[in-house]
Amino acid sequence: MKLDYDVKYGLEGVAVAISSISCVDGVKGELVYRGFKIEDLVENSNFEETAYLIWFGNLPNENELDFITSMLSKKRELPENIIYMMENFPKNAHPMEVLRSIVSILGMYSNNDNSTLEDAINLTAKIPTIIAYWYRIKNNLDLIHPRDDLKHSENFLYMLFGEIPEKSELFDKSLILHMEQGMNASTFAATVTASTLSDVYSIITTAIGTLKGPLHGGANERVLNMLDEIKTKEKVENYLNSLISRNKKIMGFGHRIYKTYDPRALILKKWLSNMNEKVKYFDIAVKVEEEVLKRFESKKIYPNVDFYSGILYNYFKIPKEFFTTIFAMARIVGWTAHAMEYCKNNRIFRPRTIYNGPKNLDYKKVKEVERNG
Ligand code: ACO
Repeated sequence: MKLDYDVKYGLEGVAVAISSISCVDGVKGELVYRGFKIEDLVENSNFEETAYLIWFGNLPNENELDFITSMLSKKRELPENIIYMMENFPKNAHPMEVLRSIVSILGMYSNNDNSTLEDAINLTAKIPTIIAYWYRIKNNLDLIHPRDDLKHSENFLYMLFGEIPEKSELFDKSLILHMEQGMNASTFAATVTASTLSDVYSIITTAIGTLKGPLHGGANERVLNMLDEIKTKEKVENYLNSLISRNKKIMGFGHRIYKTYDPRALILKKWLSNMNEKVKYFDIAVKVEEEVLKRFESKKIYPNVDFYSGILYNYFKIPKEFFTTIFAMARIVGWTAHAMEYCKNNRIFRPRTIYNGPKNLDYKKVKEVERNG
């Protein structure tokens, strides 16, 4: 049947804005932030500098870097009332639920009902504290308050564990990898909320709720669940056969834009393979990748960023249910950059659906309604 309308489920291939924030080339497998290749940024930059680049459009000079570093380090602490609330949350609440809720509550503590860069920086500074405090509360540990003499990611690891682990620079670089990725689902959700001229807390609450889903950022936690279930390299083939025969998606594989290797997954894999010691799960993951590439060659399904990131976070002893919060801790930079960029030429998002239901039905009172079957 020929349809006289064109519905793009999932808006596949539809451009909704012009943006100078990042370029994702899904054919070449390239990712560029504000003109700089992701490989150069992870090699040379850090969280603060790349955040400045994404927000302001250019690399900072020394004064500008000091400015952003100090803004981020001074706004880390949470209001006492919020800590009290968190202490009374159910201990089994998922960290993404806690993060989504606390970001929303923080909106009540802000005088601003629109969205400014200052609010974006304030929230970026506080997200690591929310995550670390929840980790400590959930595990019945005393809170470790933020220190303003530490870098963004060092301070996060310090608030989690009371010390800064070796190779913490890799954790910092992994945040750069997660910071921005064009009009992905959570950035789109953030941009839709921004287009109504809502406030930054609402924008980021929307985005966190979207990132949480297993088809998006929630995949990193599921990858570790899968590797836990597989247990050994020898069991990979049977495990995949069983998933594929049940038409189940393999977590950490596939991408709407990348139809080749996701450059972020490639970088993470390289870091893991260059570690001096044996990294837990890595051998199983490499075998999974090998088998998936073989089986899905024609569909062009490759590992995405979520496939190897959890193995790195597990290396830092971060529990798997916290993985997606770390993604959010980085991606807030991209979310807020897109929200602010879009609002410069704002037009409220209002797509349409094609109605295919009946019209002109006669209303019936409840007692007259009959149901067949
Ligand atoms: N495992 C098995 N088959 C897959 C996978 C996968 N991970 N990904 C895609 N496919 C198959 C689809 O079933 C489809 O097959 P078909 O043509 O026979 O129906 C084909 O490949 C095309 O895939 P789509 O589903 O059309 O791809 P889409 O762009 O809609 O979805 C998505 C992309 C959601 C990421 C998908 O690949 C997926 O579900 N992956 C697993 C979850 C995941 O890892 N998400 C994280 C993505 S990265 C991120 O958001 C940060």
